Amino acid sequence: MLSKHAMRIILVVISVVAVSGVGLLVKAQLIPKSFGLYGAYRADAIDEEAQRVVRHGTNASCFGCHPYEAKTHLKGDHKTISCEFCHGTYSDHVKSGKKIADLPVKKGAEITTLCLRCHNTEIKARSTIVIKTVAMPDHLEQQKVKLTHNCNQCHNVHAPLKYINEAKKITGLMEEH
Ligand code: HEC
Ligand code: HEC
Ligand code: HEC
Ligand code: HEC
Repeated sequence: MLSKHAMRIILVVISVVAVSGVGLLVKAQLIPKSFGLYGAYRADAIDEEAQRVVRHGTNASCFGCHPYEAKTHLKGDHKTISCEFCHGTYSDHVKSGKKIADLPVKKGAEITTLCLRCHNTEIKARSTIVIKTVAMPDHLEQQKVKLTHNCNQCHNVHAPLKYINEAKKITGLMEEH
């Protein structure tokens, strides 16, 4: 007959073994199959990511069907900006080389909101050397126009200095660079 003390020790040992056994079983169930094949991650994740449908095009993916906007954009100060940033996703518009739906075109005050996402002096986190910014309504007051003017009434959205440089040439105000 074992002493009460020994019985307790055996009970503790059995519980520890049982608990860790269950723990190991649960762990085996929860760890995904391909985990650890190449490292401490799921090897299948690589394939799964590679299978994801590419939703965005490049600016060049728009050029073929929109030669006019392409030409303006490529010549202007917005040439480095993605068409899709302002217009939305390629795959919502084109599938297998054909237009499947329209992309939204912003109008009026929506355009001003869009421009100010990058050009607002209020954006303190970024140096103004990176992207030139304007303060509103000061920028409009300086031009002596009504404060209801939207940015595209003076700036071509695709080549923002186009009209302004043309106007300066006409008025002889164009500075020589
Ligand atoms: C396969 C040809 C094709 C490609 C590629 C294409 N588009 Fe279009 N897009 C069209 C057609 C056709 C229309 C409708 C006719 C029109 O308004 O010019 C259109 C309309 C638009 C409109 C709306 C014009 C309006 O007045 O409502 C925008 C904005 C636009 N496309 C932007 C883009 C952008 C940005 C890309 C690249 C990410 C792109 N498109 C790629 C064919 C294309
Ligand atoms: C900075 C934002 C911005 C970028 C970048 C941009 N667009 Fe636009 N786009 C606009 C806005 C805003 C309008 C509406 C124009 C307006 O009302 O003055 C527009 C209009 C258009 C239209 C419709 C023209 C019309 O009047 O029917 C097409 C097509 C278009 N853009 C294609 C493109 C393509 C292609 C690119 C890239 C080469 C591009 N856009 C880059 C903001 C942008
Ligand atoms: C995604 C960010 C982005 C958006 C949205 C955007 N711009 Fe720009 N813009 C730029 C960058 C980047 C440049 C080139 C860098 C620079 O010189 O400021 C630029 C250049 C310009 C310039 C020339 C500045 C100069 O004197 O060199 C003007 C003017 C301008 N944008 C106006 C606009 C207007 C108007 C809109 C709305 C239709 C707009 N931008 C929307 C990023 C943006
Ligand atoms: C009434 C016409 C007009 C409107 C509306 C207008 N601008 Fe301008 N903007 C100009 C002119 C003119 C210049 C060039 C000033 C110069 O070269 O001295 C300019 C210059 C700029 C510059 C370059 C600033 C720099 O430091 O060189 C940016 C950025 C700009 N505008 C953005 C915008 C944005 C964003 C909007 C809308 C919120 C807007 N503008 C609305 C006329 C306008």
